[in-house]
Parts: sequence; C-alpha cells; structure tokens
Amino acid sequence: MSNQYVIVPQNYRSDSMVSISPADKRYFEQAQAKQKSPPQQMIFGGYSPSPSLQKSLSTQLSEQSIDDFGRMQKDSDTELVVQYILQLRDSDKREQALSELSKKRESFPHLAPLLWHSVGTIAIFLQEIAVVYQHLQPAQLTPAQSSRICSVLGLLQCLALHVQTRSCFLRAHIPLFLYPFLNTSNKSKAFENLRVTSLGVIGALVKGDDPEAINFLMQTEIIPLCLRIMKKGQELSRTVATFIVQKILLDDNGLNYICQTPERFFAVSQVLQTMIDDLHQSQKDDQRLLRHIIRCYLRLSENQKAGEVLKKYLPQVLKDPTQSFIKDEVVKKWHNNLLQNLSIK
Ligand code: TRP
Repeated sequence: MSNQYVIVPQNYRSDSMVSISPADKRYFEQAQAKQKSPPQQMIFGGYSPSPSLQKSLSTQLSEQSIDDFGRMQKDSDTELVVQYILQLRDSDKREQALSELSKKRESFPHLAPLLWHSVGTIAIFLQEIAVVYQHLQPAQLTPAQSSRICSVLGLLQCLALHVQTRSCFLRAHIPLFLYPFLNTSNKSKAFENLRVTSLGVIGALVKGDDPEAINFLMQTEIIPLCLRIMKKGQELSRTVATFIVQKILLDDNGLNYICQTPERFFAVSQVLQTMIDDLHQSQKDDQRLLRHIIRCYLRLSENQKAGEVLKKYLPQVLKDPTQSFIKDEVVKKWHNNLLQNLSIK
C-alpha cells in the first residue's frame, strides 16, 4: 500500500498545520522512521487497538485483498474523503471538511471505520460538541453553529449505524455527549435541528435492534429525555423520539424495564395519551407519528400488568374499533390486536 493512505504521518508533515506541537511532530517523525510498514499500523497512527477491535480490523483488512486496496487507491472518492479527514485537523478548513464529509455519509460505505480509526478524529468531534454547550443555556446558538454541529452529528450517526463501529461508539459512551442537546427546550430552528439530529444518532443506534445499544440507552436514562420531547417537541423531533421509545419497548428488557414500576409505566402512557389527544384535537393527519404511538401501545399491551392497567387508561378515541383516523392497513391491524389483547373487542 502506498503512503497515500497513511493519514497521520502525512498530516504531521504538512507545514500548513497549526495545531501540532514540535514535540508531537518529532514523536511522529520518529515513529514513522521506526515503522516497518505494516499498513494498518500506519493508518491508525501507531494506535494499538484492543484485541476485539484488532479482530474486527483484521477481518476488515483480510476481506479486502491487496487488489481491493489497489482499486480503492484509484478511487478518487476515497482520496477525497481521506483529504477531508486530514483537513479536520486544520481549524481553518474544519468547517468545510465537516460539511463535505457529512455529505459523503451515504455514498461512501467505509467512512465510519476511517473516521473511527484515524487518529484524533473522534477527539475533534467531541471538542466541537463541547464548544457548543456554553451556548445552550442561556440559549444563544446561531444557525451557523447549529449547522456546523449538525455536520458533526451526521458523522456520529454514521458511526452509530456501521456494524464495525457501533459497539466501539457505545463503549466510548459517546451518546452521552448528545444528551445535553436533547435536554433543551428552545423552540428556534437552530435548537430544533440540533435536537432532531441528535435524536437521529440515537435512532440509528436503536435501529439495529441491538440489545447492547438498547441497554446502554436505558441505563443512561434516555427515556425521560425522549418523553419530554414527545410531550412538548415539534413534529419531527416528536416522531423520532417516539420511534426510539418504540424500539426500546420492542426489546424484551426494555418492555420489562418500563413496566417494572407504575411511575415508569404511567410516565410513558400519559405521554402517549397526550400525543393521541393532540393529534385528534388538531385533526393533524400525521400517520407516521400515529404508527409509532399505536405500536408502543400494542407492545405495552403484551405485558400482563401493563395490559390490565391499559384497559382503563387507553385513550377513548382508541377504544373505538370503528375509528377512521388510522389509514395504514398495518397500523389498523396493530390497533385491532391491541383491542384484542385488552379484551375491548
Ligand atoms: N430514574 C427514572 C426511573 O428509573 C428514569 C425515568 C423517568 C424513567 N421516567 C421514566 C424510566 C419513564 C422509564 C420510563 O424510573
């Protein structure tokens, strides 16, 4: 493999770099001189991955033969992505690089491992996030700051989605850095975008039905944060927050956890009820939100204790089997099953 993909040393040689101390530079030059050139060690800047990580890396590398790497090298997209990753280290180029990288999220499947294993990239993301905290309270987030941080969140979402990085992402407790964004209530677009995009990262984590992810989120009390957004949030953040709660409920541990105490159960069912009443009264035709709400109710009805209580507390509009505001056939079926589980029908 040519040096073209040696992210760190190349970066440290660049004269345009402003943020590296001479000592760091020397250290890397020495490390580079010592390097007997196993390519993966160079890519990861001498960082020594844990045994499990090494395993996932070696599968990744052995699955891609040298030929594949040859092809990758010719691939101008890879070159571009690597350039942008390098540019993150330059504070003048960072904003642009973040925006370009976040645009590559869907078209470039190797982005997540490249981001995770390139030295310093995650630290840069966390630094970007931490800088924004001071603008949350009092609320002073500008649209430009919001959009810059949303690029970072988009890249975190990509790490949360990728099978090779999701578990590292969780073990590094990175979702916790987003909780302060979910705990805001300012109605401006800058804040709403920040909330929706942060929820998107959590949504990506629960999408894979991975019990490790669900467990992590539950233990770190994502549910009260989601419930607050479901109660008071705007359309999109509400929908994503409800999707996250639905995914937690669909997990067996998640359902048990929520039905374990009356306080938890009622906290969830009251918010679901508020949303149903809201949809009904405002005559809003939000089938997507409705779908998640009904799925949550159906899942709750599968727990014996919760089912008993729901019989009494199911919103009146949902007790009517002939109601017409559910349009989707699948959701109609869920609603039917719900009424059956509660012996209402
Ligand atoms: N510490 C609270 C609890 O464990 C967290 C919580 C608040 C919660 N509201 C909830 C958990 C609703 C689940 C559902 O009860």
